[in-house]
Amino acid sequence: MKSLRIRPASATDLQAICLIEDNSFSDPYPRHLLNRLLDEIGNYFLVAENGNGALVGYCVSSIEGRLAHLISIAVLTEGRRKGVATALLENLIEYLEAHRVEELWLEVKQDNKEAIKLYEKFDFARMMVLENYYSDGSAALRMRMSFKKQVVKVGHE
Ligand code: COA
Repeated sequence: MKSLRIRPASATDLQAICLIEDNSFSDPYPRHLLNRLLDEIGNYFLVAENGNGALVGYCVSSIEGRLAHLISIAVLTEGRRKGVATALLENLIEYLEAHRVEELWLEVKQDNKEAIKLYEKFDFARMMVLENYYSDGSAALRMRMSFKKQVVKVGHE
């Protein structure tokens, strides 16, 4: 998408984030939960703004020491397949690497093929299936991405 801007979210973005959430999920997070995610120290919340200044996507992750967790990512239906989620994830990963986070974990509904394709494009590896993970009884796939650099030892033999 042309003129896409990724920036940290602020409290004034809450309404637009709720719209993206309602547009994207059959069981959207309620406003008060999204507000808490925005407020909580330790979360990294990003939004994607199009050339007109309208929000088209968001992602939020929690960070605890060396481990980060992708809590949610969503893009407005009409803004999809234009690289918005890719830009959000690239920005998130850049931030996490700069803050010495070593792994990013996430859960995704097992039948969410679009999202799984997105994560596999970023080299997330499948870890395990969590049965009955969601409120509707469906299973989740847990995936993980590692940022740990391989240490190559060079020495005299
Ligand atoms: N079909 C197949 N692959 C898809 C896809 C689709 N409909 N949408 C995304 N992908 C995969 C592709 O590999 C794509 O790369 P390509 O376009 O070069 O083939 C890659 O993801 C990146 O696509 P991008 O344009 O950056 O993704 P997006 O901005 O459309 O957002 C989601 C992807 C999953 C965030 C978006 O579909 C969405 O908001 N879905 C509803 C909410 C959701 O399920 N969130 C994830 C919860 S775990």
